[in-house]
Amino acid sequence: MNILSIGGSNSKISINRLLANFTASLFENAEITIVDLSTINLPIYSVDKENEIGIPIEALTFAHQIDQTELIIISLAENNGSFNVGLKNLLDWTSRIKDRKTFNDKNMLLMATSPGARGAASVMEHAKNVFPHVGANLVATYSLPNFYQNFEVGKGITNTPELDKLKIIVSDIKG
Ligand SMILES: Cc1cc2nc3c(=O)[nH]c(=O)nc-3n(C[C@H](O)[C@H](O)[C@H](O)COP(=O)(O)O)c2cc1C
Repeated sequence: MNILSIGGSNSKISINRLLANFTASLFENAEITIVDLSTINLPIYSVDKENEIGIPIEALTFAHQIDQTELIIISLAENNGSFNVGLKNLLDWTSRIKDRKTFNDKNMLLMATSPGARGAASVMEHAKNVFPHVGANLVATYSLPNFYQNFEVGKGITNTPELDKLKIIVSDIKG
């Protein structure tokens, strides 16, 4: 299976990138492409900017990566109840490619985590409403609360019930 793993944050130390990439690693024998938003330099979207420069190569590349994949794993950072600005900007640019639904009807495992007990529940709810309208086929959702208590770099999710929950999701997707 080809997987596109997207950490939904432009932070270099994104906990959501860690969670997305860990989850992708649970799919044995998968070919994983990682999208690291901290390395993508895009101007802030505006109609004026689009008229001036067209669609930047970074957005075209992201769209191509979506088109090539069988499964999108995306884990959302919650910033003021909504999307991280780096993700929102990339999605806005991508949505402007002609005749395109951003996620191109691809299967998506929608995830989120935060340091707090709500596990980024607000942005998760928002994405559940919005992403299907822009071409995401949501096959499962998963939110990890209290990231720093439940995840260790190099080990992944250390909370057994949470890990079991995620493993069931992964195994259902593998079919
Ligand atoms: C500008 C900003 C706004 C934030 N707003 C929220 C919020 O609304 N809810 C929340 O649970 N955490 C919020 N946080 C804390 C983030 O959940 C935390 O920074 C987390 O690490 C973000 O994920 P990331 O590391 O993948 O970027 C905010 C952080 C920043 C920098």
